[in-house]
Amino acid sequence: MLIPYQFGRISAGDGMNNKIYLDNSATTPLASEVLEAMTPFFQSSYGNASSLHSTGRDAHKAMEQSRSLIAEHLGVTPHEIVFTSGATEADNLALLGTALRTNGGGHMITSRIEHDAVRHTARWLATRGFDVTLLDVDEAGRVSAQDVRKALRPDTLLVSVMAGNNEIGTLQPIQEIGEICRERDVLFHTDAVQAYGKVGLPMDVIDMLAVSAHKLHGPKGVGFLYVRKGVKLAPLLHGGGHEGGRRSGTENIPGIVGLGEATRLAFAEKEQVSARMRQFRDQLITGVLKLPGTRLNGHPTDSLPHIANFSFEAIEGESLIMKLDEHDIAASTGSACSSPNLEPSHVLVALGVPLSMAHGSLRISTGRQTTSHEIEKLLQVLPVVVQELRDISPFKVGG
Ligand SMILES: Cc1ncc(COP(=O)(O)O)c(C=O)c1O
Repeated sequence: MLIPYQFGRISAGDGMNNKIYLDNSATTPLASEVLEAMTPFFQSSYGNASSLHSTGRDAHKAMEQSRSLIAEHLGVTPHEIVFTSGATEADNLALLGTALRTNGGGHMITSRIEHDAVRHTARWLATRGFDVTLLDVDEAGRVSAQDVRKALRPDTLLVSVMAGNNEIGTLQPIQEIGEICRERDVLFHTDAVQAYGKVGLPMDVIDMLAVSAHKLHGPKGVGFLYVRKGVKLAPLLHGGGHEGGRRSGTENIPGIVGLGEATRLAFAEKEQVSARMRQFRDQLITGVLKLPGTRLNGHPTDSLPHIANFSFEAIEGESLIMKLDEHDIAASTGSACSSPNLEPSHVLVALGVPLSMAHGSLRISTGRQTTSHEIEKLLQVLPVVVQELRDISPFKVGG
């Protein structure tokens, strides 16, 4: 058994080195530039950003540089960036922070295909006296902006629709949705975890936007919520009043520096890396759909460049993942957060994918390190493992 790390002994596992890692929507390998940027902030510049001495001031300066860099890339002001422990917290801060500002009650609108960080938060609010409207999506996973318009009510506090879906990649009409919210003076939040650094974001119509560093070759456990100036949120964490009173807790300086460097890299390489990913995606779609009894889940073109999701008749997604793993290929079925439970993905169910096909889904997601050789290898291995699994399946393709 591979023991990645033994406490008391310096031994980092390198189990992934020979792997073809195609699960970049779950998490990405840390870029070496990011590790290099972070390292001094664990060792020599370890100060607390609130301390008055120069060690503390150095940490504070690095944090503010990261904040400014992120703000510059988004075309917003540094004060509008609130660092968090990741996107789960950022999404929670957007929804709960809006809800807690009221005296209780009010209406929120979200979609059926949101990440659990939004979905379960909205569901929890619904048990606490808030009304939540869940918008349906079409067969490609798109929310209709007109449905948003129709669902708005005088007591609507917030609309939350993700920019691009983490399971199927489909992009949402967030420009149109944001414009409708603006017209009606309703807050618009978008979870941009998978879209940030890969596609353009219409910041002029977005009030809150959640990002996570580990999806863009940065460290785990750090992210931010963009909060437009003037938007009032109740804090979820109370304490020393960090982040302008919006999120207390000693700041994760190495993480924040890593998030800044990951942002710099992602935006510097955006056109080039996204074009390569798009090419891989198209190659995967063409290659996989040649196999009988397969379907693409999501939109073929209006989609994030790094995600392709397929369903295979007469196959369990989990078996497919384990078979691919035997070939040193890492992919996933559904999202990493929900795959241990054997319920079919809520996203595929919302698309109307038949249950038998929803159980046989495969998500392939590329990263900046993915090569054409890796995609070719997957396309060679996949027909073989699909056939092996179908040979032992009690179900028939087309049956
Ligand atoms: C779309 C989306 N939102 C939110 C999250 C949660 O992010 P974090 O891992 O930073 O809490 C994820 C991670 O899977 C995601 O893909």
